[in-house]
Amino acid sequence: MQKLWGGRFTAHGNSFLESFGASIEFDRRFAPYDILGSIAHAIMLGEQGIITHGEASKIVSGLQDLKKLVDQNQLNYSVSDEDIHMNLERHLTEAIGPVAGKLHTARSRNDQVATDFHLFLRDALIETVSKLIHLIQSLVDNSEKNLDVVMPGYTHLQRAQPILFSHHLLAYASMFTRDAERCMDLWKRINILPLGAGALAGTTFPINRQRTAELLGFDGLYENSIDAVSDRDFVLEYEAMASLVMMHLSRFSEEIILWSTGEFGFIELDDSLSTGSSIMPQKKNPDYAELVRGKTGRVYGALISLLTTMKGLPLAYNKDMQEDKEGLFDVVDTVTASLRTVEMMVSSWTVRTEAMRMAAERGFTNATDVADYLAKKGVPFREAHEVAGKLVLQCIQDDCALLDLTLQQFQVYSSHFDEDIFECIRIKSVVERRTSYGGTSASSVKRQIELSNESVEQLRAWCAEREKVALKLSSLCEISIGSE
Ligand code: ARG
Repeated sequence: MQKLWGGRFTAHGNSFLESFGASIEFDRRFAPYDILGSIAHAIMLGEQGIITHGEASKIVSGLQDLKKLVDQNQLNYSVSDEDIHMNLERHLTEAIGPVAGKLHTARSRNDQVATDFHLFLRDALIETVSKLIHLIQSLVDNSEKNLDVVMPGYTHLQRAQPILFSHHLLAYASMFTRDAERCMDLWKRINILPLGAGALAGTTFPINRQRTAELLGFDGLYENSIDAVSDRDFVLEYEAMASLVMMHLSRFSEEIILWSTGEFGFIELDDSLSTGSSIMPQKKNPDYAELVRGKTGRVYGALISLLTTMKGLPLAYNKDMQEDKEGLFDVVDTVTASLRTVEMMVSSWTVRTEAMRMAAERGFTNATDVADYLAKKGVPFREAHEVAGKLVLQCIQDDCALLDLTLQQFQVYSSHFDEDIFECIRIKSVVERRTSYGGTSASSVKRQIELSNESVEQLRAWCAEREKVALKLSSLCEISIGSE
């Protein structure tokens, strides 16, 4: 088959290298975006008189027909046409004849592929934020439902201080909210148009880039044509944001795995979110949480892979950059599926309140409060810490809890102890008295719930606003510019 760029070549290519160099197996995912970008480009070319109105009209309706075929999965792609851009141009030519060849006036595959990427990532960002919203909402709902559940908080995975289970869940809600905010921030850099940069230097045709941007719902333009086709920092930024999401999901999954062990027993996953063993009949394994933890590696991998691909490239486009797509597609699929999976676990698990309470009551999680009690009576904190440590040692020797000691036993170590020490180190009261801003008391946790609810509202409004852009874009598939 004659190549679309075949003019200056005499010899035929090699079929192994042809498929080595092709990207159609994966960039076919850009097809709808490529067509929309082309429709906007053709409309602009027609309006500017670069092609005639009649030509623009034929090209636009030909592209609209192609879009229908793409939506119905009815287009065949060929490796000899290398990538999605040339495959679609071939199909357009077959459908409307040589006038299709005018579509590529004043553009290059370099600004075309960058445009496809921006359009694709816009949708990916909206999808990612909406999955984050679902998870944050589930965490907040769970926090509201379990407001009186106390669990041990850990440092070094050793019991540290008692906390509200809700407080722990809301820590994750805060992390995922920041992830969503990172997406919102990234939108600014994704929603600008590279098209019109040509191969790298701009074009001699009197194009109107602002008009193309308006048709495609972009807020602005790349100011420098070389930059527009050379960088993939916006892809890397998505991958970096996704890596943080996966890191958060992975830590949470790790806790879900621990919490569902017989040893912890803090939660029980729904049967539908667990799997059995092929040999051990008693097993109920948290496979999906493990998979989310495991999939984190491939997302980090894609980020490092593209950073490495880009690091030595001279400006402007280099074919190395074709390696930017598979990783990103995988990242988008992995992060959205993982968010969904973890949300499903949170919204259906059973919380084992008693197990958490019992664990919080053991392990001397109220030892800090013994020290604080003395410090509040004027004993220097270091000294108070020493006394509390000695009391803990005494309890370890006697195999009891601090609350099992008598007042006389307390007073052996310090004359400052009074009857009120017992109320002070009661686990519930240990939690309740942590009213400092952002602390674990119910009042502070309720405030966090309110704030999280507000954030979710803001994120929802952001998504709804952005979905309008996507809707406007799809109107390009119906637009008729008339034949004259
Ligand atoms: N398939 C190519 C890619 O994804 C499209 C851009 C090709 N440009 C070029 N000058 N060969 O990178």
